[in-house]
Amino acid sequence: MSAKAVVIKNLTKKFANPGGVGEFTVIDSISLEVERGAFASIVGPSGCGKSTLLNIVAGIEPYDSGQVQVHSAGGTSNSTARIGYVFQSPRLLNWLSVEDNIKFALEAQSIDKKRWNGQVKKYLELVGLSGQELNYPLKLSGGMQQRVAISRALAIEPDILLMDEPFSHLDEITARKMRVDLTEILQKARPTILFVTHSLREAVFLSEEVYMMSLKPARIFKHVRVDIPRPRQPEDPRLFDLEKNLVQEFFAVLEQNLR
Ligand SMILES: Nc1ncnc2c1ncn2[C@@H]1O[C@H](COP(=O)(O)OP(=O)(O)OP(=O)(O)O)[C@@H](O)[C@H]1O
Ligand SMILES: [Mg+2]
Repeated sequence: MSAKAVVIKNLTKKFANPGGVGEFTVIDSISLEVERGAFASIVGPSGCGKSTLLNIVAGIEPYDSGQVQVHSAGGTSNSTARIGYVFQSPRLLNWLSVEDNIKFALEAQSIDKKRWNGQVKKYLELVGLSGQELNYPLKLSGGMQQRVAISRALAIEPDILLMDEPFSHLDEITARKMRVDLTEILQKARPTILFVTHSLREAVFLSEEVYMMSLKPARIFKHVRVDIPRPRQPEDPRLFDLEKNLVQEFFAVLEQNLR
């Protein structure tokens, strides 16, 4: 049996209602597991609770009931697992250079200062940004900023990398390139990934495991394994067929949701 990097059991999360009276269930008894080294995606419509779920896994949002375990590569303790997080927008510190943005994250993780320059060089090279060390975020394109955010998250060498719709703000051509680049980057740096998206096409292209989430409250209504070998081609007809079938299932479930 292979090792699990993330185990979520019967997770339920409630938020206070917008008016402040009572609460609503945003996530309803979700269970999922991610094997070490796997790329798992969660796909769901806007507002279903995807970012909330990632924040819970990251330990920055409390939850009401259930269990959430993030296992480090060497052990099973929640507290020692190192988590990298790529947010929906790059969230760089605009007053710090590219390399200082990465060093800021290394410092926050208490990584030995002697390793900082090496990590900056290695992970900027991995995302194709060598030479941008001294540049500032606002002088980079959106795609380049997101690459810095990815290299910052990888540079801490996380046990698990959380990615929240990292390409959703990019134009389709750039997003396509970034998806292909990401799969290449991950051949070299191979953390476990929990990736959130509203795009089934993106999920089936990138993942080994796809979890499909319904809306209000969010439940996992389907779990699919994508067995297509890597490297994958974005135009592979098997990906289109899989996407087409899953889209139909999504519509059926969302129609029930809206009834
Ligand atoms: N801190 C909060 N307090 C109250 N309600 C919240 C809070 N954060 C999120 N919500 C509500 O929880 C629901 C899920 O929000 P969340 O941001 O997790 O959705 P999402 O699936 O990430 O959406 P998107 O795809 O648009 O990013 C929404 O109805 C949102 O209004
Ligand atoms: Mg979100």
